[in-house]
Amino acid sequence: MDAESGYRELENIARRAVETLQAVETLEDLEHLRIEFLGRSGSIARLFQELRELDSSERPAFGKRLNEVKKEIESRLEAREQELQSRLEGLRMSRESIDITLPGRSEKLGRKHLITRIIEEIEDIFIGMGYQLQEGPEVETDYYNFEALNTPEWHPAKSLADTFYVEADGAKSTALLRTHTSPVQIRVMESRKPPLFIVSPGKAYRRDVPDASHTPMFHQVEGFAVDRHITLGDLKGTLELFCHEIFGAEREVRFRPHFFPFTEPSAEVDVSCGICEGSGCRLCKQTGWLEILGAGMIDPNVFGYVGYDPDEYSGFAFGVGVERIAALKYRIPDIRILLEQDFRFLQSI
Ligand code: DAH
Repeated sequence: MDAESGYRELENIARRAVETLQAVETLEDLEHLRIEFLGRSGSIARLFQELRELDSSERPAFGKRLNEVKKEIESRLEAREQELQSRLEGLRMSRESIDITLPGRSEKLGRKHLITRIIEEIEDIFIGMGYQLQEGPEVETDYYNFEALNTPEWHPAKSLADTFYVEADGAKSTALLRTHTSPVQIRVMESRKPPLFIVSPGKAYRRDVPDASHTPMFHQVEGFAVDRHITLGDLKGTLELFCHEIFGAEREVRFRPHFFPFTEPSAEVDVSCGICEGSGCRLCKQTGWLEILGAGMIDPNVFGYVGYDPDEYSGFAFGVGVERIAALKYRIPDIRILLEQDFRFLQSI
């Protein structure tokens, strides 16, 4: 190497160092450049090797310039490294920073569904009168759902159009989805002796086409009392008290003769309409009354199925539709909304 080409190469290296160090964006690339310029076989080291070939008169000046360039590259490397480091640091700080002035996030609280709350309300009223809770199966047999409840073979409720039978081919198997909660009466009486004061909430199923007041699955609370000397007066007093607890003491209650196969006599119970207070409106279909439950004195034939002596014991029974109570109490025009997951509705009730 002669001095002239040595200087040319040295200045080339110096220029290249300025350009590349300015452009480098990562610590990794910077390290590659350090090796390229200052490494043991890098371009500066190579010139130090070649320095020996120069004429001794030129060596000191070239060596001095070579050292200057080396120092310059070192300090630029260091400066760039610091820039890149502090940029990384800044990124990390902003990623990890917490704005402690932000308001906290509040979690949405869940709550019980309206149907559950009304069932619990009904249970509480009867538990307060000394009743016990007893649930029964939703898949029942023909015997418990109909036969032992004194429902004759030809009864329309037994038709395929009204009852979900469990067997898929439509043949009448004896397994079915219970059409009411009344079969719990039979199961309890069969296994226990009076006195019995029982409430039994749960689901029931009917092959109804859904509309504003029907869904194929719905809820009922069954209740019954069996003991010596239970009278129709006990039934009236108990259900009047229940209606007043649920709807308010100002509401009137009336008993209307009706028919159920498992009670004799039977009645439907109405409360006075809370909207028109009896004068007639759309909700009560101009009658001034809202029907809310079915009831009656347990038929002696039912006692026959469970081995109770009807001369010794008597009892009353009733069945309340939970969706109906919910609809009347909360003025829900279409009960299908109770089965939908509409948050706006669920939070409003
Ligand atoms: N099981 C009847 C129904 O689903 C309701 C009912 C009426 C229940 C009279 C009773 C009763 O216990 O005595 O429509």
